[in-house]
Amino acid sequence: MNIKLVSLLCLCSFGATAETVGYRAEILYFKADPAKEKDASVHYKDGYLIVKDGYILKSGNYATLKDQPVDSMIDYSGKIITPGFIDTHVHYPQITMISEYGEQLIGWLNTYTFPTEIKYSNHPYASQKASVFLDQLVENGTTTALVFATSSPVSVDAFFEQALKRNMRMISGKVLMDRNAPAELLDTPESAYEESKALIKKWQHKGRLDYAVTPRFAPTSTEEELNIAGKLLREFPDVYLQTHLAENKQEVAWVKELFPKSRSYLDVYDKSGLVTKKSIFAHSIHLDDTDYKVMSEKGASIAFCPTSNLFLGSGLFNLDKAHQYSIPVGLGTDVGAGTSLSILQTMDEAYKVTQMRKAFTDNPDDVHSVTPMENLYLATLGGATVLSLQDKIGSLTPGKEADFVVLDPLAGQVLAGRNEGSKTIEETLFGIEMLGDDRTVTHTYVMGKKMK
Ligand code: GUN
Ligand code: ZN
Repeated sequence: MNIKLVSLLCLCSFGATAETVGYRAEILYFKADPAKEKDASVHYKDGYLIVKDGYILKSGNYATLKDQPVDSMIDYSGKIITPGFIDTHVHYPQITMISEYGEQLIGWLNTYTFPTEIKYSNHPYASQKASVFLDQLVENGTTTALVFATSSPVSVDAFFEQALKRNMRMISGKVLMDRNAPAELLDTPESAYEESKALIKKWQHKGRLDYAVTPRFAPTSTEEELNIAGKLLREFPDVYLQTHLAENKQEVAWVKELFPKSRSYLDVYDKSGLVTKKSIFAHSIHLDDTDYKVMSEKGASIAFCPTSNLFLGSGLFNLDKAHQYSIPVGLGTDVGAGTSLSILQTMDEAYKVTQMRKAFTDNPDDVHSVTPMENLYLATLGGATVLSLQDKIGSLTPGKEADFVVLDPLAGQVLAGRNEGSKTIEETLFGIEMLGDDRTVTHTYVMGKKMK
């Protein structure tokens, strides 16, 4: 069988279309970070996106591209096409315990999270929840996510099986935790190593999947286990590292007690070789300048999780500091501490976090409220950069995987009323970011296949 035919058969088995399709709509994406560069956005008021075999063939003005040969044309005039959203931190097992009352981080983990995660060693249960989770990502326009499973390898298999079925670009891994949690969730440094290694061999680079070594956070792993995580990263240099960092002040104080020899919380991870270009640290709220500097020098990234940080009362992330140190930042929903799987609603809260920082700082001129364009960047190319996937996803240039969403700036009466009078793309976009939800996401495409 020749290569072309094989790839055609592969595409068809995922249900991707092998034809060339043109989509006419307003188009918006980024070629750089608007917080750093002027003219970072690419905007076609009357645009045309041509997709062939699951990849972007061309994007530009409709008037320029309209004579390009296509098998079919879909007219989404009045709608806006952007890259699919990227969620750089979320826990799929926690969708059943989203929005539980009254606790901050440590109490919330013990009261709600750990008892929930115990259920995920049951394959049918985990599969059903993974399926609902992925369907809800699609509903909300999220096409890629960096996802925590639980400490059970069964939970990882269940998740990757469902993601593979949908041909979605997903990254996940088994949670490592060998102390300070219920016995049913605990592993040992040896089992953490063996199970992670087996899962990496089984899932890394299968379809569009990638693996992340996933120590939950320093309080639930011994130094020996964190060192095992570092050993896995050295043995498998392609895999990611995801964990939580400096989310809550009580947690930071606890880490200081547990690791008295380390200079800071970040230093605990650094000593075990966990701060690398492929490391993504969720939250990263309570850091000092040395931490930012180390993160920057090592090329590590941050997942900014505003709905979670407000819900658990964790603190206000300092986006300006991250920019100052050139640390890549993406948005994370962090469900179930986060209160929505919607990246649009996450952008809404991200804006409010920057507004609150401005209100409570001694130097309001040093704090800037995240702009509509910067917010969309965080959710698309910014997230892709955090995941070192900017060559594959996050924008709509030729050769990229055709993961994109079709947004309706007039979805629902309130947003419609707000946007009827919008004069610029920034104004329309800000309305979508503050007021949008799953109704705003009219369609979600994964590798050129319409999933919603
Ligand atoms: N820190 C350790 N585990 C968790 C978790 O599941 N959610 C959040 N938000 N923080 C954590
Ligand atoms: Zn989390």
